[in-house]
Amino acid sequence: MNPWETLREECLQCTNCSLHTTRKQVVFGMGNPKAEVLFVGEGPGANEDEQGLPFVGRSGKLLDVYLESIQLSREKNIFIANIVKCRPPQNRDPLPEEREACLPWLRAQFKQMKPKIVVCLGRVAAQVMIRPDFAITKEHGQWTQKNNIWFMATLHPAALLRNPNNKPMAFEDYATLRDKIEEVCEHTYTNPL
Ligand code: URA
Ligand code: SF4
Repeated sequence: MNPWETLREECLQCTNCSLHTTRKQVVFGMGNPKAEVLFVGEGPGANEDEQGLPFVGRSGKLLDVYLESIQLSREKNIFIANIVKCRPPQNRDPLPEEREACLPWLRAQFKQMKPKIVVCLGRVAAQVMIRPDFAITKEHGQWTQKNNIWFMATLHPAALLRNPNNKPMAFEDYATLRDKIEEVCEHTYTNPL
């Protein structure tokens, strides 16, 4: 097994926080582990828990519309992960202790992938990955660089389903993502590895 598959197998066995008692499946993530662009959501919902894959429900369908608008494919040129890998009951926000318990998995994914760009989907991911006081409505679409990696947060697809008026704003975020990919990535659009 390669290091990525080893990590996945270990993660699928995890019992490091109490979410393991209510989950059906661990959602490790999906996509190309060699991608230069990493998307980070909040945590699995009911559909994801059933299928063991991220963003497969209604918000996932909307995410795919945005990805397609800038020629990204979840199989080929990105990877999609979550802050917590197991579903919080009733889809509540993951608790601080659950985030802390789960973050080593995301860090390990990050370390192996070495992404050039990280896109946070929604407030929870942005506050963990960018800044604890990140204000998603004000700061979405803005780029910040940390340790040579570019970070941006956009509105969570589930929030866009609740507030469709914000959908055009999100398209602008993805347009800036396309520009940033063209600026800093080598093989995302040309030759996905
Ligand atoms: N919402 C998320 O934040 N992550 C998923 O995987 C699905 C819905
Ligand atoms: Fe382990 Fe993360 Fe699932 Fe908690 S949420 S049991 S830390 S994989």
